[in-house]
Amino acid sequence: MSAAKKPTLAVVGATGAVGTVMLGILSERADVWGEIRLIASPRSAGRKLTVRGEQVEVIALSEEAFEGVDIAMFDVPDEVSAQWAPIAAAKGAVAVDNSGAFRMDPDVPLVVPEVNAHAARVRPRGIISNPNCTTLSMIVALGALHAEFGLSELIVSSYQAVSGSGKEGIDTLRDQVAKVAGTDLGSQPGDVRRAVGDLGPYPAPIAFNVVPFAGSLKEDGWSSEELKVRNESRKILGLPDLRVTATCVRVPVITTHSLTVHARFENEVTVAGAHEILSTAPGVVLCDNPAEGEFPTPADVVGTDPTWVGRVRRSLDDPKALELFVCGDNLRKGAALNTAQIAEVVAAELAAA
Ligand SMILES: NC(=O)c1ccc[n+]([C@@H]2O[C@H](COP(=O)([O-])OP(=O)(O)OC[C@H]3O[C@@H](n4cnc5c(N)ncnc54)[C@H](OP(=O)(O)O)[C@@H]3O)[C@@H](O)[C@H]2O)c1
Repeated sequence: MSAAKKPTLAVVGATGAVGTVMLGILSERADVWGEIRLIASPRSAGRKLTVRGEQVEVIALSEEAFEGVDIAMFDVPDEVSAQWAPIAAAKGAVAVDNSGAFRMDPDVPLVVPEVNAHAARVRPRGIISNPNCTTLSMIVALGALHAEFGLSELIVSSYQAVSGSGKEGIDTLRDQVAKVAGTDLGSQPGDVRRAVGDLGPYPAPIAFNVVPFAGSLKEDGWSSEELKVRNESRKILGLPDLRVTATCVRVPVITTHSLTVHARFENEVTVAGAHEILSTAPGVVLCDNPAEGEFPTPADVVGTDPTWVGRVRRSLDDPKALELFVCGDNLRKGAALNTAQIAEVVAAELAAA
């Protein structure tokens, strides 16, 4: 790419839940891009979507679609990324992948710009991975605390929004709420289950319920989401032996994941020290005044970019541990925003080359 030319960006999966938010983010952020090419499945070819205030026609995914592309974002299912990100890379693009296909590949960096932007420069396969939305919803705040206190253990529970399951999750919650809202169902076992009928992508009703399972079942009863939180936190923070225990729960929220976090450190911590770090860390907002009812909730955080942190307490039994409540928009920082930030880091690198 010549230094004068602005890079060409491809958004693969432009019609999906993450892709839709991506187009909004690309329209809001400083415009570093030349052409923005929108790609999806053949089902969507010919549709027109708005980006940067202009209507752009969606084209079907193909090898030719990557002709002249400098950076290709992938917001598509794992199997589509697994097949097509290497093709984009072979065509000369840097692929920034939002799926789970490459996250734990040792030759693919897993990047959160506020925590490990340097890792994006070393990409032997021409692919950079974006972490999963649950890890991303907490890791910016934890990275800042780790830099000061040295993290030694994490115990987290997630409260995950349905948009984390894509359009199908959103449609399922809306449909189930419409069936149950206004009824007096909920006082007898099974009555919500009978009323909602179709469970969509979930193993239990998601309307008026919480579901203590997210992802697929892995060894020894762990879910894929729980293992992602463990493995990806370790990789991003560069702490391969970090003790991490996660329990992932799906809740009837459309967008914004929340987590309770028990974070143990090498050194003693204070709430005042944690407040100081969290109130100045880039990408973090401290919202912690319970006496005034001030703490983050998904209803207030949705549509915003930062990681919001509240309910900061020092563990009553352990002077080295903090308890936190963290919220992050899973479609923005948890997916599209982080991908856009990575792409901007690469664009700046290409421009400087
Ligand atoms: N939702 C989240 O919170 C979140 C967070 C982080 C990461 N992610 C990851 O981001 C990716 C996208 O998730 P999503 O929630 O946006 O999913 P989604 O709403 O189901 O959208 C999927 C997108 O992929 C496209 N697609 C599907 N099959 C294709 C194919 N064979 N060829 C070309 N395009 C194809 C779809 O195009 P059509 O419209 O044409 O079918 C659509 O644009 C997934 O890997 C997901 O795990 C999601």
